[in-house]
Amino acid sequence: MIEKPNQSIERSALQHDPGFVHRFEPGTTNRTLLLLHGTGGDENDLINLGREIDPGAALLSPRGKVLENGAPRFFRRLAEGVFDEADVVQRAHELADFVKTATETYGIDRKELVAIGYSNGANIAAAMMLLGLATFPYAILLRPMVPLSHLESRPNLNGMRALLLAGKLDPIARLPIVEALGDLFRQAGAEVQLRTGQSGHERTSADVAAARNWLNERPSSPENPL
Ligand code: MLT
Repeated sequence: MIEKPNQSIERSALQHDPGFVHRFEPGTTNRTLLLLHGTGGDENDLINLGREIDPGAALLSPRGKVLENGAPRFFRRLAEGVFDEADVVQRAHELADFVKTATETYGIDRKELVAIGYSNGANIAAAMMLLGLATFPYAILLRPMVPLSHLESRPNLNGMRALLLAGKLDPIARLPIVEALGDLFRQAGAEVQLRTGQSGHERTSADVAAARNWLNERPSSPENPL
């Protein structure tokens, strides 16, 4: 008799799959940008943004595995701004595992790893930070929200630096929400800068300029200094 595959084993294998479709572009300095796209984006979406922010950095850009009507995301949501928090936790672990493996595979210097997330990508980066899973010391989050309504314990974000970029007219990542996220990060020990532009939820050239200036305050060392 042919046995049926064990469904629960298959499911749990899927649940912990650390593999992500992704792009890796080598750079000329030690810095790597971890690019996390918004809803409906993919691994190609933020490549130009990354290049504009730091032309010398390597780029690591995964595609979110959750599909919402065909649109890739990094975690499930129940409605606009209402998140499936169990899924947020699980996906944050998966992505953290992927980043860890990728840093080994590509020889990425974790001390120079900068997460750059937009919208849903900013939210999964924020979740990784709040769950103590962030392997990156720097984060630039465009239009982020608070992805988890309660935390089992406060993470230790001492030594981390985060730039939060909010849009004054953003109806989704509203300013008080971005401020609340900044407060959570600060309470956990991170150094946080919040900048508010005249935009809505969309990205603007002012975001690129702000991100570039913020990173330039601490230049990355060349990979092969003469
Ligand atoms: C989210 O679902 O993460 C936020 O609502 C932002 C979005 O992707 O629209």
